[in-house]
Amino acid sequence: MANYTPKNILITGAAGFIASHVANRLVRSYPEYKIVVLDKLDYCSNLKNLIPSQSCPNFKFVKGDIGSADLVNYLLITESIDTIMHFAAQTHVDNSFGNSFEFTKNNIYGTHVLLEACKVTGQIRRFIHVSTDEVYGETEEDAVVGNHEASQLLPTNPYSATKAGAEMLVMAYGRSYGLPVITTRGNNVYGPNQFPEKLIPKFILLAMRGKPLPIHGDGSNVRSYLYCEDVAEAFECILHRGEVGHVYNIGTKKERRVIDVAKDICKLFNMDPETSIKFVENRPFNDQRYFLDDQKLKDLGWSERTIWEEGLKKTMEWYINNPDWWGDVSGALLPHPRMLMMPEEDKPNFTGSFYSKTKAMVEELLKEYDNVCTLRVRMPISSDLNNPRNFITKISRYNKVVNIPNSMTILEELLPISIEMAKRNLRGIWNFTNPGVVSHNEILEMYKAYIDPDFKWANFTLEEQAKVIVAPRSNNEMDATKLKSEFPELLPIKESLIKYVFEPNKMT
Ligand SMILES: NC(=O)c1ccc[n+]([C@@H]2O[C@H](COP(=O)([O-])OP(=O)(O)OC[C@H]3O[C@@H](n4cnc5c(N)ncnc54)[C@H](O)[C@@H]3O)[C@@H](O)[C@H]2O)c1
Repeated sequence: MANYTPKNILITGAAGFIASHVANRLVRSYPEYKIVVLDKLDYCSNLKNLIPSQSCPNFKFVKGDIGSADLVNYLLITESIDTIMHFAAQTHVDNSFGNSFEFTKNNIYGTHVLLEACKVTGQIRRFIHVSTDEVYGETEEDAVVGNHEASQLLPTNPYSATKAGAEMLVMAYGRSYGLPVITTRGNNVYGPNQFPEKLIPKFILLAMRGKPLPIHGDGSNVRSYLYCEDVAEAFECILHRGEVGHVYNIGTKKERRVIDVAKDICKLFNMDPETSIKFVENRPFNDQRYFLDDQKLKDLGWSERTIWEEGLKKTMEWYINNPDWWGDVSGALLPHPRMLMMPEEDKPNFTGSFYSKTKAMVEELLKEYDNVCTLRVRMPISSDLNNPRNFITKISRYNKVVNIPNSMTILEELLPISIEMAKRNLRGIWNFTNPGVVSHNEILEMYKAYIDPDFKWANFTLEEQAKVIVAPRSNNEMDATKLKSEFPELLPIKESLIKYVFEPNKMT
């Protein structure tokens, strides 16, 4: 067992959930340590999470991105950082099925920048890298032995794959440059300060509003949950006693099915589970179970303190006492929230072609006028399948097509809406697409079903696809919430495609 005393700790991602508990705990318990927090304040973060530390002399908050090498180098040097606890990441699996490039950018590239800064500055005595149980992939339902720290990494979804990728870089910097690294792999965490896209706070907020609790699939998936304060204590233990070069699981053997979590929350709110639980479409892939061997951390002296019933009650009370902590979170409370979609306020970020550059410039110029209504159209589709500019005509004639889910604009439905918008004198910027996404292959399947049963097409291989895509466009999915709330009758993209394009053209 090591005996390490840090001086100046950089904690990344501490305006988020887990790291805010770790930062507040270390600031409070160790006034002799300086705690510097670096966080880019993404949608899931909240500066209020750090209120307990804000007035403490040993605490400093810096808003910034771990992907900025200049900023990270500057902080390490000017703050004489000797210890890094790296939590910052994109963390929501649902988002990673939509906008996975953001996961690679933040979780892998961001970690790489931190590691390189450690190499360049040469002053880091501990780099604690926070990973997840999900890197092990799914545990067999009947397995009696949990994954131990030497088990193989077999991630199954884009989120866990980026977490495993980041781990590989951490390991390599340990081996190649002698960076004193420690990696943790944790079970699910719950408690105050968690953004309500995750299961427990989402169910609590929905229950508070008297709304049904949506369960992905049949709810038989099993998860293990640890209370946030216990996890903060585990990090305190690993910081001081963890051995360099080692991996530590932060786990519990107590497992519960998602359906039982929902039932427990119903009980706390006196709701009838029979009528309050709603089963919805499952994720593209949903690991059945993550089961960890938690002995190694126990040997360092840590153990779980908070029993489930007590932790869940405390969490419920906190959300009831802080109903406005997050502001408007209606988007996060959907069954499959996609918080990384592009809302209107996001700056246009694709300048990969002259066309898109000029479009972005014009938007910028028009912003000066308050009587302008800008409609952001994406991949316009009409029912005229002979028009060569129609997206469907184009892809049905290509030799090979890529296959990427995208937001699209069904003109027959949306052009009348644009006239109505002018009548209503609506102004500002509007994402002008149908809600949801549809992929090239899904459209071509419909083409085959409705227009030409003999139609065949070929897809690019993933390698070819990477070459033909001009830029790593991460914003294929636009957030149509604003348009949908003005025009509630607006159809989801696939329904609109069938109603306005394929049904009218159907071969009889
Ligand atoms: N929540 C869990 O149940 C759980 C379980 C196991 C492991 N983890 C891991 O623990 C860590 C923290 O998870 P969480 O649930 O507290 O996350 P969170 O989503 O609540 O917070 C993540 C924080 O990181 C920040 N961030 C993201 N990208 C950044 C960047 N490029 N630069 C600077 N800041 C950035 C965000 O603004 C946010 O404040 C993650 O690495 C996650 O993979 C979480």
